[in-house]
Amino acid sequence: MISQNTTDAANDYHFEKRSYCGDLSNGNIGADVTVFGWASSVRDHGGIIFIEIRDITGMVQSVFDSSVSALCFQTAESVRNEYVISVRGTVRERSEDSVNPNISTGGIEIAARDITVLNGSNTLPFGISQPEQINEEVRLRYRFLDLRREEMRDTVVRRHRAMREAREYLCENSFLEIETPVLNKSTPEGARDFLVPSRLNRGLFYALPQSPQLFKQILMVAGFDRYFQVVKCFRDEDLRNDRQPEFTQIDMELSFVTAPMVMDLIEGLVARIAEAVLDRKIETPFPRLPYDRAISRYGTDKPDLRFGIEIEECSDIFSGSSFNVFSGNLARGGVVRGIAVPDDPKLSRMTTDGYSEYVKQFGAGGLPMFKYADGALQGGIAKFINETEKSLLIERFKLREPSVLFFSSDREETVNRTLAAMRVKIAQDLGMIDGEALSFLWVTDFPLLEYSEKERRYMAMHHPFTAPVPEHEEMLATISPESAGRVKAQAYDIVLNGVEIGGGSIRIHRHGLQKQMFGLLGISPEEASERFAFLMNALQYGAPPHGGIALGLDRILMVMMRKNSIREVIPFPKTQKGQCLMSGSPTEVTPDQMKELAIRTIV
Ligand code: AMO
Repeated sequence: MISQNTTDAANDYHFEKRSYCGDLSNGNIGADVTVFGWASSVRDHGGIIFIEIRDITGMVQSVFDSSVSALCFQTAESVRNEYVISVRGTVRERSEDSVNPNISTGGIEIAARDITVLNGSNTLPFGISQPEQINEEVRLRYRFLDLRREEMRDTVVRRHRAMREAREYLCENSFLEIETPVLNKSTPEGARDFLVPSRLNRGLFYALPQSPQLFKQILMVAGFDRYFQVVKCFRDEDLRNDRQPEFTQIDMELSFVTAPMVMDLIEGLVARIAEAVLDRKIETPFPRLPYDRAISRYGTDKPDLRFGIEIEECSDIFSGSSFNVFSGNLARGGVVRGIAVPDDPKLSRMTTDGYSEYVKQFGAGGLPMFKYADGALQGGIAKFINETEKSLLIERFKLREPSVLFFSSDREETVNRTLAAMRVKIAQDLGMIDGEALSFLWVTDFPLLEYSEKERRYMAMHHPFTAPVPEHEEMLATISPESAGRVKAQAYDIVLNGVEIGGGSIRIHRHGLQKQMFGLLGISPEEASERFAFLMNALQYGAPPHGGIALGLDRILMVMMRKNSIREVIPFPKTQKGQCLMSGSPTEVTPDQMKELAIRTIV
């Protein structure tokens, strides 16, 4: 039973007299205040009870003295953690020994005269103010309690600031926020669509947008020069720590722009977001790295540049090697590449053996290594390396200090994947990464197309609406699987600490080129007019040159706030299995609903 003792008139809680807990300070000493919130902690010291009250702004301590009011003291005694209460009293300075320098209200307390219990609470599944590790499943099930924790509240507030700042920046730069439909036509852009059955059109389906790509291009044709939207997108993908089935993009499109103009604008936007989220100035412009160089130096198009460690090509050094693993792979058309890292006691035999196992997930057979010190090679594969190879390696890696060299020899993609992951893993293991650093990077000059051996066709590296650089347009007429990579796109990705936080491009705005592009992608004119009719149609009615970008808001926040999962920055996220543990979605629906929608399940 929750006692509802009160000295206030029933149902008249004087909400209008509310002071916020976190706003109180030494400036309020002597004032009569009423606060509303949750009992964050209750400490009973015999004749005195301390209750910390928490609201959206923070926490303040209230003190109940049995000698001041017995009734009030009795009510305070009944309060348990997370009861909703109202406390009225006088703000006073805390005694010197009870000052809490860790909170803004730590110098004061409320000497309580009245307390009202507005609602009770069951026993909690976890402590709200305890910093201990709580099982994520329990947190997600009780998200309403989890969100009361200071860390989560802080995250939600920062997320709001980021969105507000983005909107303000874009409005200042003459963008209009325009909504696009959520119930759409299915036009797969890469991931699977989430489908919604139509009751009024039995047997037909809408698709939820993977992004507003086509509609934002249509808005350019319609003359809305600068569009933006903070928009939910839906992709039915396998989930990872940086992927959710529904996520938020800050989506933009502009007419009469070049790629550098979009990039400059986005740097300003990202800097404003960083300032709002972290209260930190970000240096612009960001470095710009061509795709080919990103791949050859870092093995990936989203390198983490918070630390050095660059990949060196070694195929030429080992082409005649007596070390069969390398020469054999080279003979089969593979490559040999390596990285050198400073020697460190942490790189024990056990650790490096562990790395050889670790790389198997990337398809690599192992991670051959040796150590270098004072001109000599030791351990690992050192005994297979001859004098010529040794001096070429010393020169290639500019070896001076004691170092450990790791190699990967395999198909080029496997080697890139392996070394890209290893440079990050080793940097983490050796403590080479400055946790505070924010390392932004643009990756530019992407190939327009890649040839898929598996599907025996060209695929768009970004999406089919991305324009080639004008000088390469002619090459499309004579493209071959070998030359495909040489046609560059006017595309750009933005990377933060090794995570792709956004991507965009200048678009194809001429009907003929878009038709040619669909042709190259194996989309027949009939299919193109079936799937993309409205875009193809619009491109024939005065489409201006245009381009844009979408930033992944959740990923930006995840990296900026140094969270290891995207779920930490989303108020109500889905699990890796795409479930909302709090509401219990997805669920079965009733047979009547299914019938109305003309749907039958086969599971
Ligand atoms: P893209 O597919 O690269 O581009 O998406 C843009 C950004 O959205 C974020 N993102 C995701 N975040 C969380 N969970 C996901 N499942 C997820 N998928 C993508 C990433 C990514 O960089 N229409 C184009 C943009 C354009 O060309 O203007 C598009 O959607 O941070």
